[in-house]
Amino acid sequence: MCGLVGAIARRDVIPFLVDGLRSLEYRGYDSAGVATLNDKGLYKQRAVGKVEALAQQLAATGMSGTMGIGHTRWATHGRPEENNAHPHVSTEMVAVVHNGIIENYEEMRRELQTLGYEFESQTDTEVIAHRIHHHLQSQHSLLAAVTETLKELEGAFAIAAISNEEPGRIVAARRGSPLVVGIGKEENFVASDVTALLSETRDFIFLEEGDVVDMTSEAVTVYNEYGRVAERPIQTSNVKKNAVEKGDYPHFMLKEIYEQSIALRQTLAPAIKDERLDEGYLGTDAEDILDRIERIHICACGTSYHAGVVGSYLLEKLGKIPCRVEHASEYRYRSPVVTDNTLFLVLSQSGETADTLAALRYAKQAGYAATLSICNVDSSSLVRESDLCFLTHAGPEIGVASTKAFTTQLMAMNIITLFMARRRGLDEAEEQRYLQVLKQASAAIEAALNLDGQIRDIAMSLADCSHSLFLGRGNMYPIAMEGALKLKEISYIHAEAYPGGELKHGPLALIDEDMPIVAVAPKDALQPKMKANLQEVQARGGKLLIFADQGSDFESANQSTVLKLPTVDDFIAPILYTVPLQLLAYHVAVIRGTNVDQPRNLAKSVTVE
Ligand code: G6P
Repeated sequence: MCGLVGAIARRDVIPFLVDGLRSLEYRGYDSAGVATLNDKGLYKQRAVGKVEALAQQLAATGMSGTMGIGHTRWATHGRPEENNAHPHVSTEMVAVVHNGIIENYEEMRRELQTLGYEFESQTDTEVIAHRIHHHLQSQHSLLAAVTETLKELEGAFAIAAISNEEPGRIVAARRGSPLVVGIGKEENFVASDVTALLSETRDFIFLEEGDVVDMTSEAVTVYNEYGRVAERPIQTSNVKKNAVEKGDYPHFMLKEIYEQSIALRQTLAPAIKDERLDEGYLGTDAEDILDRIERIHICACGTSYHAGVVGSYLLEKLGKIPCRVEHASEYRYRSPVVTDNTLFLVLSQSGETADTLAALRYAKQAGYAATLSICNVDSSSLVRESDLCFLTHAGPEIGVASTKAFTTQLMAMNIITLFMARRRGLDEAEEQRYLQVLKQASAAIEAALNLDGQIRDIAMSLADCSHSLFLGRGNMYPIAMEGALKLKEISYIHAEAYPGGELKHGPLALIDEDMPIVAVAPKDALQPKMKANLQEVQARGGKLLIFADQGSDFESANQSTVLKLPTVDDFIAPILYTVPLQLLAYHVAVIRGTNVDQPRNLAKSVTVE
């Protein structure tokens, strides 16, 4: 959570810092600030609300400087008020921006108070600024003072610091939260994410855990966790700037929904070699590891968790392998029993979600046969720390509500299922048939996108409701869960998902004419059961919106609206049925006038527990 950016150059960097913060707003957006060192000393400007509010204040003050740090905040300690916004400053000498949580900040705060430091915020970050200032009294440099401070901090975080005693220098550090250095010509940058730096450079150093970077406009030196100079490769990114721009779309979310057909194609293609799905795509040891696997244990958060649930249905049904799935935040606190030859599988768009990463690290100590991540960011911690990895190629996802990352995760789960199934009786011809089905997913999505106009019209009928219920059965249940999550995330309508068969065990009590029911009901083995469930709803006056397919005999009537999607193989139905639910949530949110790309209280990358 939170985004930080820093720059050191021979030109005014304030406009760049503001643009960088705009790109990072998806990480948090309740307040923002920048600090610079110029001939007048250390100068900071902070504003509550979005980066735009800060930009206006900066324009009014005319603040400029050839170096600086900036921050956009997602509040953890202390309300979103100006005094809690970053940068935090100690005695007009040191300024710090920080992403993550300092767990021992209370005791550090008490100690600093006894040393005479006064606190102006409720944040955990302010202790970092004061500690650095404190160490500067005895250390010879900002680098040494930051290094000393890092030894005292507990938690997961990334920081960047400046001091008016060394105006040509930024020192930044990574422990648990991502940080990337951008290399320019006589100028250098640091940020939580490459998206903030793409306007200036393509050359990046992805810092590793425990790294500290000492940066001037001419040089970048990285130190590892032991304080030794570390060689870190400069990697050239091929992410295009327009991949992180909205283009002609009103919102990133809509752009990303429409990009799904391409994203699926891009995700499938590299997993195919010589017309066969290639296990080597997961890593060099993949074949040997998968041969040994007898069980799979999946962990993830949010939307990625839903992809994991769909995966667990697939893996048991077609892959014939026992599989369980749970929220990463629950997993490591419940003393899980680890059985022999079990694969630990994590899914994450960002690869930086704190709970998922912690679950992976726990699992690595717990005796699993191997770890496998499904991830969209190849430079992420999750990818680096897993034995095997399936890289999805959704491209950068900016909208906080995940869309194309989810459907590409489903594609990855399909492919991994086939890897397991081929070991348990699926013959080559059948596998080839499934591969052809996977290749049809992109076209099916395009057909679903043609329903956009109809879905927008239907969205009007949901826009004024306060509650809604989403129903599905089998592998459509997790798709109903994902549809409900999308709606609540961006429209703030309370939405719950239930398996259709559970309706009579509680939620039926909620049904009346004010409770819309969204049902995902393709023609599959469970459709007759689902029909019976929906009749129970209709009999109680509930209004139904049913997503079915051309082959099913649902028809629109007084109380029910039916939207028909192309008929596809069950194997890719979860991918297809996700799309209309995303569009529904999107249009409802637009009608209600909420902030679609940056919904209140949420952030895209949750790097705190
Ligand atoms: C946050 C985002 C969700 C996302 C979840 C997991 O809550 O708002 O959209 O699904 O994190 O993120 P990950 O990057 O691990 O998939």
